[in-house]
Amino acid sequence: MIRGFSALTLLIASAAPLMAPAAAQAQTAATKPAPKVEGAFTLPALPYAADALNPAIDAQTMTIHHGLHHQAYVTALNNAVAADPALKGQSLEALVAKAGTLPAVVRNNAGGHWNHSFFWKSMAPVAQSGQPSPQLLAAITAKWGSLDAFKKEFQDAGLKRFGSGWVWLIRDAQGNLAITSTPNQDNPLMDVAEVKGTPLLGNDVWEHAYYLKYQNKRGDYLSNWWQVVNWQKVSERFAKSAR
Ligand SMILES: [Fe+2]
Repeated sequence: MIRGFSALTLLIASAAPLMAPAAAQAQTAATKPAPKVEGAFTLPALPYAADALNPAIDAQTMTIHHGLHHQAYVTALNNAVAADPALKGQSLEALVAKAGTLPAVVRNNAGGHWNHSFFWKSMAPVAQSGQPSPQLLAAITAKWGSLDAFKKEFQDAGLKRFGSGWVWLIRDAQGNLAITSTPNQDNPLMDVAEVKGTPLLGNDVWEHAYYLKYQNKRGDYLSNWWQVVNWQKVSERFAKSAR
């Protein structure tokens, strides 16, 4: 199985054509999604159509990524919170901030929910991708020399992330920009993050984010992804993060 593709991915009609009928039937019998419970956390709608990020990201990837993977994190988080009275009523941000003190199921799924909610808003259709604000561009240029040099280092960090995880542009507590990477569904807001800071931009380098279109070519995904980065949103986050 493709790493990062949960069996849940293969349960819907849109994913079924990926498998032979017998294999799909066996997969369905072997793994069923956890029962969905009503909870505090809900799947946010995509801020654009599933096919809006073509050609950088195809519609099927977006549909599965959002509707199944992200939904699975939300469902699992709601189930975990429902089973633990100590967690009830806490915000997603509160859970993420102390993720290292919580059970792995909460850390992973709270992170998954936060990261993907952030990710969808970090992208826009190609025609609306825009450019960094003058202030953000100046900060990037001061740190990396040029926007292209920043992109290259960001892509390199994504390539070096072994297995599944994320690559981030953050602003640290001293106000400095930095490129970081986190494993699994961790993020720079977590107490367990090696480098902490306010995320300004994040890219999902789990194979489920790109495998249908790019297969093993993570580098091509990382370089094409710039076409759909929502620089207006990133610039807003940069402005808000000012000390
Ligand atoms: Fe993802």
